Amino acid sequence: ADGLPSWPYPRWIAHRGAGRLAPENTLAAFALGHAHGYRMFECDVRLSADGVPFLLHDDRLERTTDGRGEALGHDWAALARLDAGAWHAPRHAGERLATLEAVVAFCHAHGCALNVELKPAPGDELRTARVVGAQLALIWRGTPAPLLSSFSVIALEAAAVTAPALPRGLLLERFCGDWLATAQRLGCVAVIGEQSAWNAQWATQARAAGLRMLAYTVNTDEDAERLLGLGLDGLITDRVDHFSPDGAPGQC
Ligand code: G3P
Ligand code: MG
Repeated sequence: ADGLPSWPYPRWIAHRGAGRLAPENTLAAFALGHAHGYRMFECDVRLSADGVPFLLHDDRLERTTDGRGEALGHDWAALARLDAGAWHAPRHAGERLATLEAVVAFCHAHGCALNVELKPAPGDELRTARVVGAQLALIWRGTPAPLLSSFSVIALEAAAVTAPALPRGLLLERFCGDWLATAQRLGCVAVIGEQSAWNAQWATQARAAGLRMLAYTVNTDEDAERLLGLGLDGLITDRVDHFSPDGAPGQC
């Protein structure tokens, strides 16, 4: 009805699995988001030294695991032994880092959609996009296809070559410079803006260009109502305990 290609994804997307309610980017977080009714998840994906795609937000291990140093300095065999849950709460002790493969299996088992944010370590953009794009193209079954997003233009360019069938979204902290031309050149289907950066001007421009509009990270009723008023298609939230993924903002 809006003249845009159909958009197969749920409106509400659980950030890093379940926001801050469980250790971010772990299977425990996905399970909690799912228990709250969420059927689409955003997660941050990077590579180990030996090229295994796995979930981790930071370049370094300290904040969300009991490991030390740059994640890229370790092979997967070493990363797989780390504790990725105890930092969050004692009951999550023993939770492991999740491979992308395990997260895809979770989504298949539960009929969920996925937004894979390519979060390469600096300098690892090309390899990350190629390996992650190739793995997803190989193992993902069914529809909708995973939405690949990144702040890295290099990563999105490489994803477009390696996995052209996977839809892409350009992440923007601010709407500056030639954001629209960049999104179009990358063949993106969506722009995913920091929630407070969205306004009527950017929404009108994105819509006129045929782009879907998403926002991160939407954690209050006020913000959700403003963004839905602007016509946004997707809201990425930490507050899986507050926003019902099927209903209006504020309903639990
Ligand atoms: O993908 C949206 C959002 O996750 C981007 O910011 O730092 O939470 O990965 P960050
Ligand atoms: Mg992210």
